[in-house]
Amino acid sequence: MMEEIKKRVKARLSPHRFAHVEGVAKTAVKLAAIHGIDEKRAELAAWLHDYYREDSRESLVHLAEEVAFVIGEQPTPLLHGPLMAARLSLDFGIDDSEVREAIAVHTIGDPAMGPVAQVLFVADLIEPGRTFASARPVRAVAERDLARAVAMTADATIEHLLSAHLPIAKETVALRNLIWKRIDETT
Ligand SMILES: [Fe+2]
Ligand SMILES: [Fe+2]
Repeated sequence: MMEEIKKRVKARLSPHRFAHVEGVAKTAVKLAAIHGIDEKRAELAAWLHDYYREDSRESLVHLAEEVAFVIGEQPTPLLHGPLMAARLSLDFGIDDSEVREAIAVHTIGDPAMGPVAQVLFVADLIEPGRTFASARPVRAVAERDLARAVAMTADATIEHLLSAHLPIAKETVALRNLIWKRIDETT
């Protein structure tokens, strides 16, 4: 099943994006194994997380209509995760709530995100192909402290959006507030 999925992902994405997804999958499996999180779910979520990342808004609107997914005013770069989550069962016959959640929230995060979603959120930033300066410190802690890596990933997302004058999702802010508070209360 995984081989079939990889083939479909490869056929849909540019070589550059496919290499990113491959890096995320490797990183997600490694992090999941280290932190005692389901590796299969982490791998599946990673392979599918950017499946619709290169679609136009028109294409996304059409894909959304088929599953009665409401797009509303959401900016295009934020649609690919929630839409893939909404189509997971139709497109791939996958009906797993943890995989679905991980894909749905991978771009903005969520304070209620579970372990598989946390692994994907971090792996998406730190996979080996990423050259952002913000990825380096997260790489250094992700294998020993996943919670701290999640908080740092949310901060890196916010910093990027601030410097690009882009809107910041309230979920990302709520996530970093919650996790840093938890970390600071226990250390
Ligand atoms: Fe993405
Ligand atoms: Fe990604």
